[in-house]
Amino acid sequence: MKISIDKLYCIRKTCYSRIYIIKDNPKYYLKDNYFAEKLIQEYKTLKFLRDNKFKNIPEFELKNIGHRYFLILTNIKTDPMFWDKINKDQTSKIIKCVKKLHRIKNRKGKKLKHFFNQEINRTRLNLNRYTIINMYDKTEKFKHFYNLLLKHIDYIEERSKKIFSGRERCSFIHKGLSYSHILYSNGEIKIIDWEDSSFGDPASDLSQLFNEPRFPKRVFLNQYSTLKENKIIMKRIKFYRYLNFINEILQLLSDNINLEYDLNSLQKVKEIFYEKEILLNLRNLKKIRKTL
Ligand SMILES: Nc1ncnc2c1ncn2[C@@H]1O[C@H](COP(=O)(O)OP(=O)(O)O)[C@@H](O)[C@H]1O
Ligand SMILES: [Mg+2]
Repeated sequence: MKISIDKLYCIRKTCYSRIYIIKDNPKYYLKDNYFAEKLIQEYKTLKFLRDNKFKNIPEFELKNIGHRYFLILTNIKTDPMFWDKINKDQTSKIIKCVKKLHRIKNRKGKKLKHFFNQEINRTRLNLNRYTIINMYDKTEKFKHFYNLLLKHIDYIEERSKKIFSGRERCSFIHKGLSYSHILYSNGEIKIIDWEDSSFGDPASDLSQLFNEPRFPKRVFLNQYSTLKENKIIMKRIKFYRYLNFINEILQLLSDNINLEYDLNSLQKVKEIFYEKEILLNLRNLKKIRKTL
């Protein structure tokens, strides 16, 4: 297939990646990334999945067009209302597909406990990065906020010690399992956006998926594993939800700091977040903490 660069039409931009379609050819989606190695990583993951007989991915190809790398994917035309009117058959297809993914095990590699500790470290790093960005901010409000989050992280680490003592190996996980990455066309589920995936704890994938509005958690767990295993998985999911909330709060703040250079307006943006989103999330942290 020959594609010329001036036929490409950008339909979506984020900080690092762009999605293009080809004019007059709705069959494909093209993705590129500011960091070429990220794109190649995603391509390698897609190959790895294909080699492991995981079929719920679009067809793909890595191509050099006009001296730039693009990941070419088949366009999975999904009804925008898919998640609003999802039926039993589709739900069970999604469960089967996620189960199949998590059955890809890392035999020699990391254990779940190791993965969880890595996630804790990543959160600590995020907290410190956020502190550096906010060096100029010496207000009591900020210090209080920093200490509060630090306490939450310490608490999670302490409480998780019993849960993650097992010897179970990591599975291959997607790491961004949200509604926008699960597509459905011609009776088949296809999962996209594999750029962050690696081996890890399947409960971490589930914690993201279960955070989506009206996701059928019970039905999912009943088909995903046995009743006894479900209890353990549910516990682990709670720990990841707890950590995800903290990372979300940090993300909210650092995102705005990247966008806003003017300190006065930055302060305003931050105040809004302190008042609304962050406080709301902090309330969620407390709720989860009670259930651990
Ligand atoms: N093969 C595809 N078929 C249909 N839609 C796609 C496809 N690839 C990407 N998209 C759409 O573009 C969005 C962004 O793609 P994604 O791979 O998630 O990029 P990013 O890494 O920027 O999040 C997806 O949420 C989806 O709506
Ligand atoms: Mg995405």
